Amino acid sequence: MIDLLKRQTSLAKGLVLDVLSEGDSAVDATAGTGADTVFLANVVGENGRVYAFDNQWEAISKTAARLRAAGLTQRASLFFRGHETMGDNEALRRDSGIKAFMFNLGYLPGGNHQKTTSAETTLTAIKSALKLLAPGGIITILAYMHPEGRQEYDALSLYLSTLLNPYDVYRVETVNHQNAPVLFVITKKEE
Ligand SMILES: C[S@@+](CC[C@H](N)C(=O)[O-])C[C@H]1O[C@@H](n2cnc3c(N)ncnc32)[C@H](O)[C@@H]1O
Repeated sequence: MIDLLKRQTSLAKGLVLDVLSEGDSAVDATAGTGADTVFLANVVGENGRVYAFDNQWEAISKTAARLRAAGLTQRASLFFRGHETMGDNEALRRDSGIKAFMFNLGYLPGGNHQKTTSAETTLTAIKSALKLLAPGGIITILAYMHPEGRQEYDALSLYLSTLLNPYDVYRVETVNHQNAPVLFVITKKEE
């Protein structure tokens, strides 16, 4: 358990595992290197579906290669576009079984640090995710504290603190380390 607190990426995955089952659908809102997409594809199994978004071709091709290497290509749909378009995405709108969204914000590891997620587009995506999420589902958002990330964190904190039923919002943070990442977790009650 202590290890999970120290590695919020692992904590996010552990919480998703609690909710996501074989045959469900899931969204990786920031595909990046594809690690989370492959994780989700393994959890949903061959009858499930994973949708992954990234607005950098480098990230989409890394994710495609990782899925190929794991033999999981058939379980995932990759979208080379920003997650702010999720609300208009027909595949997502038709799918009533989306039980998890993972947002790992920031920039592509090893990539251009200027190409990062931003407060405005992230909020647009989160608002869509809240609507698309199936009852009983979960959204994890890992926010980083680089200068652009801090603005994003502030905007998220403000918005998420206004959410009402059927959502509960949690924040996991390290209080004695400056600029440590923060994990937000949103759960949607069963109907
Ligand atoms: C920290 S990385 C994600 C890590 C990834 N989940 C993994 O498993 O490796 C953040 C990613 O967000 C992407 N990104 C930035 N703005 C975006 C947007 N508007 N929509 C979707 N992805 C975006 C970046 O291109 C980058 O690949």
